This record gives sequence, C-alpha cells and structure tokens, in this order.
Amino acid sequence: MAYIQQSFSVKFEYRVFFTEKIFDSSNSTFADFLEAQAAEGIRKKLLFIIDEGVTAKHGYLQEQITAYCEQLDNFELVQDIVVVPGEAAKNDLQLFYWLINELEKYAIDRHSYVIGIGGGSVLDLVGYVAAVSHRGVKHIRIPTTVLSQNDSGVGVKNGINYHGKKNFLGSFAPPVAVFNDAFFLTTLHERDWRSGMTEAVKVALIKDAGFFEWMEANATKLSMGDLPAMQQLIYRCAALHMAHIGGAGDPFESGSSRPLDFGHWSAHKLEQLSDFELRHGEAVSIGIALDSVYSFLLGWLSEDELLRIINLLKQLRLPLYHPLLEADEDEDNPGVVAGLEEFREHLGGQLTISLLRAIGRGEEVHVMDTDLLQRAMTMLRDNW
Ligand SMILES: NC(=O)c1ccc[n+]([C@@H]2O[C@H](COP(=O)([O-])OP(=O)(O)OC[C@H]3O[C@@H](n4cnc5c(N)ncnc54)[C@H](O)[C@@H]3O)[C@@H](O)[C@H]2O)c1
Ligand SMILES: [Zn+2]
Repeated sequence: MAYIQQSFSVKFEYRVFFTEKIFDSSNSTFADFLEAQAAEGIRKKLLFIIDEGVTAKHGYLQEQITAYCEQLDNFELVQDIVVVPGEAAKNDLQLFYWLINELEKYAIDRHSYVIGIGGGSVLDLVGYVAAVSHRGVKHIRIPTTVLSQNDSGVGVKNGINYHGKKNFLGSFAPPVAVFNDAFFLTTLHERDWRSGMTEAVKVALIKDAGFFEWMEANATKLSMGDLPAMQQLIYRCAALHMAHIGGAGDPFESGSSRPLDFGHWSAHKLEQLSDFELRHGEAVSIGIALDSVYSFLLGWLSEDELLRIINLLKQLRLPLYHPLLEADEDEDNPGVVAGLEEFREHLGGQLTISLLRAIGRGEEVHVMDTDLLQRAMTMLRDNW
C-alpha cells in the first residue's frame, strides 16, 4: 500500500488582557497590542462589530473608538457596525450574510482585524464571520458580559444557530487577543450579571473545590453587584477555562469528552424550548441543578454536597427549575430528554455526559437513565 504521511501542528497563542475603559485616550493597552503587530509599509484595517445592547448603555463608545483609532500610526478604522443584541444575533442567517458582505465591501483581508464588542451571542456571530471570510481573518474579542469575559470570549469557539439548533454552524478559531474590560460590566442588566456566574459554578464543580468554596464565601457580594468580587470570579473562571482548553490535549474537541459542558445538555434544549427567552446562563443553572440531583440519586454525590450546590445557586439568585423541563415534546417524552440525543449528535460519537463525584470532581457517563432523570426533575420541582 502506498501512501504519503502528512503531519503538522499549528501553534496558537493569544493573551487575555484585563483592563478598564479600553478606549479611553489614556489607556494604551489596546494600542500597544496593535502597534506590536504593525508591519512596515502596510496600513492595516480595523472593522468593529458592536452589540447594540452595549452602545445603548455606552452612547459615547463609537465616537470614542473613532478618536482612539485616529491616534494609531499603522491602523485605520474602516467601519463600526452595530448589530442586534442577544441570541437574536445568532438566530438570523441574513444578519450573518449581511456582515460577510460588509467585510467584502470594506475589503477586509487576512492582514485586517475584525473586532467584536459585546456579549457571548454577538461575539459568537462575529467570530464565525471572521473565521469563514478568506478562510479566517484576524479576530479580536472585547467581551462585555460576565459570561463572555469568563467563558465564551476567552475560548476558541464561535457559532450561530441553525434550524433552532444551538451552534449548528460554527468553527474552532482562536482569537488573536481578548480584552476584558471590567467597566462594561457596570451597565449589565441584573439578569445578565447573575446568569454569567453559572459558568463559574460549573467549572468550579468539575475542577476546583477551592473556587467553589470561595464563591460560597463571597456569594452575597457577588449577588449584590460587587465589582471587585466579580473581577476575581471572572479572572479565576477564565483561567480555569483556558487551562482546560490549552492543557487537556483536545482544544478543538475531536473526542467526545467535554467536561466544560457540564450541565449543558439539558440547557441547550431548554434555551431552544423557551424560544431563547431563557438566558444561556439561566438554562445552564437549571442544567447544573438537574445533573447535580441526578448525581445524588445515582449515589455519587452526598446529600450535604448537593445542598451546598443548591444553596449556592439560590444565593446567587439563579434559577433551579423551569416547567419546560417537564413539558411534553410528544405523548410520553419530556422535550428536554430529546436534548440528550441532540447533544450526542452535536459532539458526535458516543453520548458523553459529565456528572459529579464530588464538589470539584466531575466524571463522565455514557448512559443516562430517563426514569432517574424524571425523578431528578420532580425532586427539583417539589423541593426547591
Ligand atoms: N463560544 C463559546 O465557547 C461559548 C461558551 C458559552 C456560551 N456561549 C454563548 O454565549 C451566548 C450567551 O452570552 P451572554 O450570556 O454574554 O449573553 P448575550 O450575548 O445574549 O447578552 C445578553 C444581553 O446583554 C446585553 N449586553 C452585553 N453587554 C452589555 C453591557 N456591557 N451592558 C449592558 N448590556 C449588555 C446584550 O446586548 C444582550 O441583550 C449564548 O449564545 C451561548 O451559547 C458560547
Ligand atoms: Zn455555557
């Protein structure tokens, strides 16, 4: 048998910077990063795509970006586009095509930068637009929600929804840099402030009992809008996510194992069943509660640990149950159970669900018992 062996690896490196008021004229973090990428004789283009929910609260932002970019030596701002906020940005294929057209119109090439500013939804859309244009143009993320600063914005994935299925279209495409600006968090709706914390609870539960204890000790501050406490949560949560992506040997998820998706199989389905009325973080909170109760019913998690998890979610004022969890998709199937198969399909291969052996220790299973799941749902409905 004749064959030619091909083998290579590509190194990806990027930094997540922590800053405040990134486009203030006195803040050089962003400019320093760009100027370090400058090349002799080339003026590189910058195209910004901004979440309308951000410009609504930061009316000065576009003007500030224009003024900031005028001070740059080797870069020019070609356009700043404002797009619809929230999950709607991922549900609209026309918006995706429209943005691709904008990139073409402004002749964005592989030396240019597409910069997304916004929540996880807008960043997922912008990342996908950047990833498929010219087979990948340089992409910078400026996440503006808790969830995007501690999880989605610092990772390597992007995507949009298709036929109601979460992230059906998307790719693995690391950004060239991420800038977490804490000032943006001050204008978040309370619901988005809270729901972003679920990803921190999630990663603590599967990987870091010490972080879970820290959240227990700081739950009041976190739920009351204390910015320094939130900045600490974001830093640690982002570091845990990045350590997993970079260090667990499967950054582009070729295998079936996805510990960072603890609590997510039912969450994705719940988001869809609620017509995306539920925020991702809210749905994940319910998903975490469900899989924690399930782990308890399996005999894996002690009652004491289960109660600590439930209490922390409650203290952070996160939801534990939603009637859609038990809504029938057809005669005898709660719709959410169909989420198991959709989750498997999305990952490919064998069904792999993370459960909890203990706080700080996740473990995977390949089968979920639907009767036990039903009991877990009933327990959530009746007890908390
Ligand atoms: N790519 C990944 O790895 C990954 C990981 C986790 C989640 N996600 C995705 O992220 C999305 C959820 O992101 P999210 O929780 O950031 O919600 P979101 O992007 O839907 O934003 C929620 C709301 O907050 C508004 N907003 C954003 N920044 C603001 C600010 N500074 N002040 C006031 N309002 C602001 C938005 O306009 C929107 O209305 C989901 O689609 C989820 O699937 C992706
Ligand atoms: Zn998530």
